[in-house]
Amino acid sequence: MAQSSALPAEQYNYSIVRRFTIMAMIWAVLGMSVGVYIASELAWPFLNFDIPQLTFGRLRPTHTTMVIFGFGGSALFATSYYIVQRTSQARLAFPWLAEFTFWGWTGGVALGVLTYVLGITQGREYAEFEWPLDIAITLVWVSYFVVYVETLRRRTQPHIYVANWFYLAFILAVALLHIFNNLAVPVSLTKSYSLFAGVQDAMTQWWYGHNAVGFFLTAAFLGMMYYFVPKQAGRPVYSYRLSIIHFWALIFLYMWAGGHHLHWTSLPDWVSTLAATFSVILLMPSWGGMINGIMTLSGAWDKLRSDPVMLFLITSLSFYGMSTFEGPLMSLKSVNALSHYTDWTVGHVHSGALGWVALVSFGSFYHLIPRLWDSKMYSQTLIYVHFWLATIGIVLYITSMWVAGIGQGLMLRSFDDYGNLAYTFIETVEFMHTPYVWRALGGAFFVAGVLVMVYNMAMTIARRQPAAETQLSAKPAQA
Ligand code: HEM
Ligand code: HEM
Repeated sequence: MAQSSALPAEQYNYSIVRRFTIMAMIWAVLGMSVGVYIASELAWPFLNFDIPQLTFGRLRPTHTTMVIFGFGGSALFATSYYIVQRTSQARLAFPWLAEFTFWGWTGGVALGVLTYVLGITQGREYAEFEWPLDIAITLVWVSYFVVYVETLRRRTQPHIYVANWFYLAFILAVALLHIFNNLAVPVSLTKSYSLFAGVQDAMTQWWYGHNAVGFFLTAAFLGMMYYFVPKQAGRPVYSYRLSIIHFWALIFLYMWAGGHHLHWTSLPDWVSTLAATFSVILLMPSWGGMINGIMTLSGAWDKLRSDPVMLFLITSLSFYGMSTFEGPLMSLKSVNALSHYTDWTVGHVHSGALGWVALVSFGSFYHLIPRLWDSKMYSQTLIYVHFWLATIGIVLYITSMWVAGIGQGLMLRSFDDYGNLAYTFIETVEFMHTPYVWRALGGAFFVAGVLVMVYNMAMTIARRQPAAETQLSAKPAQA
C-alpha cells in the first residue's frame, strides 16, 4: 500500500479548495445574472439594444459556459480536491500542478466567455471554445487527472471511497468526450472546421452533449452527494452495495443514450430507438442513487426540521429524481415529437441544473465553508432564506417552461379542418410572452438567493479566527 510522500499526511491542502469555492460563487453570480438577462431578452426583446455583444445569440453560450464550466466546474474541482484528500487521508499530490489547474481552468473559462462575446465560437453546443482554448483545457484536464490519481495512490487508507469513483469516471469520460468532439482542422487562430460532417457530426456532438450532462452534470455531482449527504446527516450511506451498483449501471448506460437528442432527424431510426431504450433503462440507476441518498437520512428525518443544509441536499436529490423521470419520458419518440424545439426541454434542463446541480453544490458548500475557514456559519436564518428563494425560483422557472413548452408544442402541431396549420409561428411567440416573464422572475429569485449566500459566506470568512489558517494545517486528519 502506497504511503504518503515527503509532505505529512495529516496536512491537507485547503488553500486550493478555498479558492475554487470562491470562484464557484463568483461564476454563480455572473453566470446566473446573465441567465436572468437573457431570460429577460426573450420576454422583452428590446433588451438586445442592437448591440452585437449583448444579443441573445452571444450571451446564451456565455451563460451556459459560466454556469456549467465556471460554477459547476469550480464546484467540482473544490469538492473533489477536498474529498480525495479527506477520504484518502493524504495531502493533495503535486501542489504546483493543482495550482495550474486552478489558474488554467479559471483563465480558460474567462477567455472562452470573452471570445463568445466577441463572436468567436465553434458553434457546437457546450463545446463552443475555439481550438487554441480546447488544447489549453486538455492540458488542464490531464493535470487534474494526474493530481487526482496520484493523491489516490498516496492514500493511507486501504479503501477508495465510492465518491472518488464517480469523480474519476467524470474526469476520464470528459477527457474522452472533449478530445473526440473537438477534433477539427484549424484555418486560423480563431477559426476551425470540424473533422466530422453531416449526420456523423451531429451524432458526435450529441454523444458529447449528452454525456457532458451524464458525466459533468450528473456523475460528478453524485460523487459530491455520496460524500456530503452522509457527512451532514452524520450517518453512513444507506447502502454501500447499492452505491456500487448505481455507479456501474450509470456509467455503462449513459454512453448509449445521446441519440435521443436527434429524434426525427436524418439519424438512422435504429440509433434513435437504441438511445430511447437506454434512456428508459437509465431511470433505474438514477432512482437507485436518489433513493440511496435520501434514505441515508432514515432514522434522522427530524434533521429536515432543524438543519437547513440538509434541506438543500435532500431537495436537490428530489429534483434529481424528478429530472431523471422527465428525461426518460422525453426520450420516447412520441413524447419528443411534442417536446423537442420547445421550452419543455429548457424547463427539463433547469430542473436538473438549478434543482439538482446548483442545490447540491450550495448544500455541500454550506457544509464546507465553516470547515475551510474554521468558523461557524454567520447566519443559519440566511441559509433558510436562501433555500426558500432558490426553491420558489426553481418552481417558477420550471412550471412556466412547462406551460410555454407544452403550449407551444401543441400549437405548432394543431391543424384546422382544411389541414392547414391552426396557428402562425408568431402566435406561438405571443403565447410564450407571459411564461417568459415568470421565468425571468423565477431566475431573479434564484439569483437573489445566491447573493444572500455570498453575503453569508463573506461574513463567515470575515469572522474567522485570525490564527485559523495555521491551526487548520496543524490539525490531525479525520476522514
Ligand atoms: C438564475 C438562474 C438561471 C436562469 C435565469 C437561466 C436562464 C436561461 C435561459 C433564458 C436560457 C436560454 C433558453 C433558450 O435558449 O431558450 C438558458 C439556457 C441554459 N441554461 Fe440556464 N439559467 C439559469 C441557471 C442555470 C444553471 C445553474 C445552469 C447549469 C448548471 C444552467 C444551464 C443552462 C443550459 C444547459 C442551457 C441550454 C438549454 C438548452 O439548450 O435546452 N442555467 N438558461
Ligand atoms: C435519466 C436521466 C435523463 C434522461 C434520460 C434525459 C433525457 C433528455 C432528453 C430526451 C432531452 C431532450 C432532447 C431533445 O429533445 O433535444 C434532454 C435534454 C437535456 N437534458 Fe436531460 N435527461 C436526463 C437527466 C438530465 C439531468 C439530471 C440533467 C441536468 C443536470 C439534464 C440536462 C439536460 C440538458 C442540458 C438538455 C438539453 C440539451 C440541449 O438541447 O441543449 N438531463 N434530456
